[in-house]
Amino acid sequence: KNQPVKKTEPEKEINEKTGASVSSAKEKIKAIDSFVQAVDYRLRCKAAIDILMAKLKMINAELSDQKKRTVISQTTSRIKSAESIYVKLIKKELTPDFETARKNLKDLIGIRVVCPFEDELYQVAELLEMQKDIRVIQIKDYIKNPKKNGYKSLHMIVEVPIYSAEGEQKELVEIQLRTMAMDYWSVLEYELYYKKRDDAEIEAELKKYAEEIAKLDSRMLKLRNKIEKM
Ligand code: GTP
Ligand code: MG
Repeated sequence: KNQPVKKTEPEKEINEKTGASVSSAKEKIKAIDSFVQAVDYRLRCKAAIDILMAKLKMINAELSDQKKRTVISQTTSRIKSAESIYVKLIKKELTPDFETARKNLKDLIGIRVVCPFEDELYQVAELLEMQKDIRVIQIKDYIKNPKKNGYKSLHMIVEVPIYSAEGEQKELVEIQLRTMAMDYWSVLEYELYYKKRDDAEIEAELKKYAEEIAKLDSRMLKLRNKIEKM
């Protein structure tokens, strides 16, 4: 019963799958990192993040003003680390280098939007889609179709134009929209378990909690509607 927990450090993960040496994995991560840390790349990522954050700020101001309460409770952003890039490329059985990542990974730049209520996630998404200068490439609705483990969120991949001396270049950004309740579950599940994934009992328990949280989420929404009609 007490199986050894699967190792999650990238070097060890790779060792199991490819037999590559630890030092070679470290070298490849280092090579990817030199691109990830390049000033030019980071500036472009930051520009894409700034553009979307400005749009989200406007959307939040507009919706919050309409509803007389805060509609977006939190936004965060990140640029995917070299280590995460490496692990993901190996998982997808792709060559672990930066060029391959740029071509194949759509979440090198990520933004997370947390709202109190589920219906407002769709309103925010819709207002984002309406913006003329950003193009929605893909939507994955894990709220209507939760993952088998119980994970819920609305994922959008959008394309943002970045203007520099070199002209216009497009960047892809993954936007994850979640309710506070979905975020609570996802963050804990990720920290505790995402990288282990090995135990059916724990999986069943996590899934049960995801369902309980979802129930509470929809009750809160109903209560909100009732209160706001008063
Ligand atoms: P990966 O799942 O990252 O390999 O990429 P994908 O192309 O399959 O995209 P997907 O939409 O499934 O997931 C993208 C991101 O959503 C992940 O990097 C996580 O941040 C988040 N995510 C997806 N599934 C889960 C999950 O089961 N639990 C948690 N906590 N987060 C998840
Ligand atoms: Mg996935």
